[in-house]
Amino acid sequence: MDTTSAIRLYGVGLGPGDPLLVTLAAVRALEDAALIIAPTSHARQVGRAEQVVRELLPDREVLRVPIPMDPGDVGVLARRRVVREFIQQHHLVLEAAGSCAFVTLGDPVLYSTFSLFVEALSAERIPVTPEVIPGIPAFLSLASLTTSNLLDNDERLHLVPGTAGVRAIRDALCDRGSAVVIYKLASNFAAVRSLIAAMGRQEGTVVGLELGTDQMQIIALADAPEAVPYFATLIVPVQRDGR
Ligand SMILES: C[S@@+](CC[C@H](N)C(=O)[O-])C[C@H]1O[C@@H](n2cnc3c(N)ncnc32)[C@H](O)[C@@H]1O
Repeated sequence: MDTTSAIRLYGVGLGPGDPLLVTLAAVRALEDAALIIAPTSHARQVGRAEQVVRELLPDREVLRVPIPMDPGDVGVLARRRVVREFIQQHHLVLEAAGSCAFVTLGDPVLYSTFSLFVEALSAERIPVTPEVIPGIPAFLSLASLTTSNLLDNDERLHLVPGTAGVRAIRDALCDRGSAVVIYKLASNFAAVRSLIAAMGRQEGTVVGLELGTDQMQIIALADAPEAVPYFATLIVPVQRDGR
């Protein structure tokens, strides 16, 4: 599929889910785009990102891309295929629009479906001019609610998805002068929790569930339930012994 003029494509980060945490730049991009596209797990279901758009711009229609949310469910290849099929079915709509905003929770450059979308457009040889509008990542939203000092001086940050496995998380936890953020916890939360306790890093560790929504909960790891949902983020703070 070859087109003559490039589609202006905004990747719009909407933050964790609270419309108050959406930037002015994001709102302007949504207003400017002729078409708004939002990922959702099921075609008939309003996804989180679409929910935020509806609260900000209730009159705008949203085109849904059904993408299984967690690679652990279906595998990365299947997710790629689903997005590519969507582009094949909808390329005329995208081209006619001339500009579109692909919305995503948090920030578009962090584990986001925006990258799958850009990749699929490129694979279909549909020229786009991409522009990323940053959003507040889930972990920074949790950090702002739980600490006034996530990192200081020469301290470090590790961001690890639970799906990377227990060994990757152990490696991050070994660096005691670092804060460790864990995303995508649902599949192995019990193992992650035991590991954090066994490595003596449970103190101050918090889990944020459904951040930015009415169902938001922030819980100390010791008090967390046995299982957590997909929208769960964990922060292990830096161990500042002797300070
Ligand atoms: C595909 S990643 C998306 C990350 C997102 N782009 C960001 O910048 O935060 C999905 C993971 O982000 C975390 N996450 C995103 N939104 C969240 C929310 N509202 N509450 C808690 N965790 C969230 C969860 O760990 C979830 O499994």
